[in-house]
Amino acid sequence: MDNVSAMDVISRFIHVGAAIVMVGGTVFMRFILMPAAVELPQAEHDLLRQRLLARWKRVVHSGIVLLLLSGGYNYWLAIRLHRGDGLYHGLVGTKILLALVVFFIASVLIGRSAAFEKLRQNRAQWMGLIVLLATVIVGLSGFVKVRGVVTKPLDKIEVQKTN
Ligand code: HEM
Repeated sequence: MDNVSAMDVISRFIHVGAAIVMVGGTVFMRFILMPAAVELPQAEHDLLRQRLLARWKRVVHSGIVLLLLSGGYNYWLAIRLHRGDGLYHGLVGTKILLALVVFFIASVLIGRSAAFEKLRQNRAQWMGLIVLLATVIVGLSGFVKVRGVVTKPLDKIEVQKTN
């Protein structure tokens, strides 16, 4: 406990907090708001989507920046504790790649690029995919956290000769 800095706690707090807001917000929109909004008249539905996206965009942009900064810091801390632990790096590497895919889809859905218009027309499916990937990401992150630091047995430690 003595070697935990305030920065470590703040970075974890920001990381988990940003993940809760982004994943929770996406689940709310995909499974509660969108099915309820389908019943609105088309003009009202379009207006609601337009207003909602303008606000949600700010959350997504800040969330991505915060997750990348806090996640990068967490990883920098973790590297020292998990040297030579292939499973840890494999799982966290997979998690980071999946997070980048999630960031890409989330950015496309709030963006305006004409190249991705088709994707935005299937918003519900892509948001469902974000929720699925986020579930795997949280599962992987939770597993590596609970698994903790794996220390090598003494007979597996290689001693280098100096002469
Ligand atoms: C959708 C995006 C992301 C979600 C939902 C997410 C979620 C989480 C969660 C729930 C934890 C567990 C925290 C704890 O128990 O203390 C965690 C830990 C972590 N995350 Fe993320 N994260 C995301 C993106 C990222 C990114 C982009 C990076 C790296 C750049 C990253 C790196 C890490 C690291 C290194 C840990 C610590 C793992 C350990 O315990 O050793 N995360 N993340």
